Amino acid sequence: MRVFVTGGAGFIGSHTLVQLLRDNAQVTVFDNYTNSSPEALKRVRRLGQSDLTAVEGDICDTGALKTALEEARPDAVIHFAGLKAVGESAEKPLAYYQNNITGSLALLEAMDSVGCRRIVFSSSATVYDPHEQPPFTEEHRLGAINPYGRTKQFVEDIIRDWAAANTETSAAILRYFNPVGAHASGDIGEDPVGIPNNLVPYISRVAGGSLAQLQVFGGDYDTRDGTGERDYIHVEDLASAHLAALKHAMKTTGSETFNIGTGQGTTVLEMLKAFEKAAGRSIPYRITDRRPGDVAKSVADVSKATRVLGWQAQYTVDDMCSSAWNWQSRNPNGYDNAE
Ligand code: WQD
Repeated sequence: MRVFVTGGAGFIGSHTLVQLLRDNAQVTVFDNYTNSSPEALKRVRRLGQSDLTAVEGDICDTGALKTALEEARPDAVIHFAGLKAVGESAEKPLAYYQNNITGSLALLEAMDSVGCRRIVFSSSATVYDPHEQPPFTEEHRLGAINPYGRTKQFVEDIIRDWAAANTETSAAILRYFNPVGAHASGDIGEDPVGIPNNLVPYISRVAGGSLAQLQVFGGDYDTRDGTGERDYIHVEDLASAHLAALKHAMKTTGSETFNIGTGQGTTVLEMLKAFEKAAGRSIPYRITDRRPGDVAKSVADVSKATRVLGWQAQYTVDDMCSSAWNWQSRNPNGYDNAE
């Protein structure tokens, strides 16, 4: 199968590529390396024991996108490319709308022009109305509360409309909960630019000594220990969900939306303890004020993915922490200064 992957050099993309290559897919990656590195693709080729075609380009550059798709002639597209920082999206909303929405429109148009009608799209649990009670099924009310989440909601609708307009189209929309962890080799992992916003990359840096202390945002939530509870999912499980969704999209038509999580919640302090165990060291922390926009709890109902895709997460929170620590300790500067 020929698969065209936008944003394939990023955190989730790179892990998915390894599994695609191992599954004998012929892969073309289209990435502008805004928040990723060509070094990741070098490592993906090694881990996947196969070559892939890498095209450097921006999804908003319709000409470049079309040329790349014409050359690749894919059976399906996996669309990861997009800006993804919630805080930044409130500061630069137009950049988010431009990249995530215009870029996705350009991609669908270019797919139409080469007759490719199957897509797997990276959406996010951020699309759910946070005032609703978890666990979230796919039917829960939507209501993103930041520009990033709204771009995901809009693009979901655009893809559903695109799929509805042609009976041979198939779209799988995956709503990720909190992806963490790294490949077991420790060769690829999450490499955020600057100071991490997300919990596990932040804890990793504190454990590695490059940041002094974790700030736990809020100790007075209505959860087991007062700290925020999330549905963390190992990136390897998330990658295998893409392969399952791709296979489903190849044999069906129409559009389907799936939550991709474990269905289990873990609090900030539970994650911290699990990471301490994985790293074999204590991690300094301090409980501070709540972070604006955070909710007490976000957990997936994953029964639809299990029922329809035959997919289920395999890895535990301990696996997530030990693989994240393995990646961090082997690559203290991420992909920078790599040989
Ligand atoms: C998890 C928990 C924090 C950092 C975000 C996006 C979402 C997504 C995944 C995008 C919360 C607490 C965090 C820290 C802390 N994906 N925390 N100290 O906010 O659930 O989801 O990332 O594509 O769209 O919103 O994830 O990792 O930032 O936070 O105490 O330094 O950890 O308050 O309870 P979040 P997170």
